[in-house]
Amino acid sequence: MNQQEMKQAVADAALAHIKPRLEDDTVLGIGTGSTANLFIDALAPLASSINATVASSEASAQRLKSHGIPVFDLNTLDRVDFYIDGADETNEALQLIKGGGAALTREKIVAAVAKEFVCIADESKRVKTLGGFPLPVEVIPMARSHVARQLVKLGGDPVYREGVTTDNGNIILDVFNFSIPQPLDIEDKINAITGVVTNGLFAHRPADVLLLGTPDGVETIL
Ligand code: 5RP
Repeated sequence: MNQQEMKQAVADAALAHIKPRLEDDTVLGIGTGSTANLFIDALAPLASSINATVASSEASAQRLKSHGIPVFDLNTLDRVDFYIDGADETNEALQLIKGGGAALTREKIVAAVAKEFVCIADESKRVKTLGGFPLPVEVIPMARSHVARQLVKLGGDPVYREGVTTDNGNIILDVFNFSIPQPLDIEDKINAITGVVTNGLFAHRPADVLLLGTPDGVETIL
């Protein structure tokens, strides 16, 4: 399987993972990105039996609605049963870097609420130590320079993501050359910088299940 086939395989595996547990009142959290898009498209044939979803981005909400799948404001729901989303990197503890698609804050919110976070990724995303992928940080625009200076003090090389405004009206700094052997600590330290909305480390709230696409098929990692 090539990378695209692996993404399709994990999207299909995620559907197979949740389908036996779908009930009339199941609430699905839906992520953002190319792998999540394949999952949304895989859901389309079940549109009439899916009564509630919440999306981690405007783009995913639009895609869901285009298939006739209902999308709700998270504030109108009392829970999310499953959250299905991709990742930019995952380590062995299923701690993740996310936010390549600039949706990290809403992704983190939906993941925080979800009972089960099902991560879908191809094997290129699996690493020993997080940080090969530049860590996205969502920042209030007027704090950009201040936050960048603090990120340099932590040892990274922040780069402003040109031309990107998040769904929340903020900017993204991508932190390059930043190996992250202690993700819990770094997640906290970056979030403590005034002006940071959140960062793309999912260490305190890792995935519960990883469906990993490999050339030989999909591995389920718990
Ligand atoms: C978006 C994300 C995505 O999950 C991540 O970028 C992976 O995307 P893809 O499935 O396209 O490789 O965090 O903010």
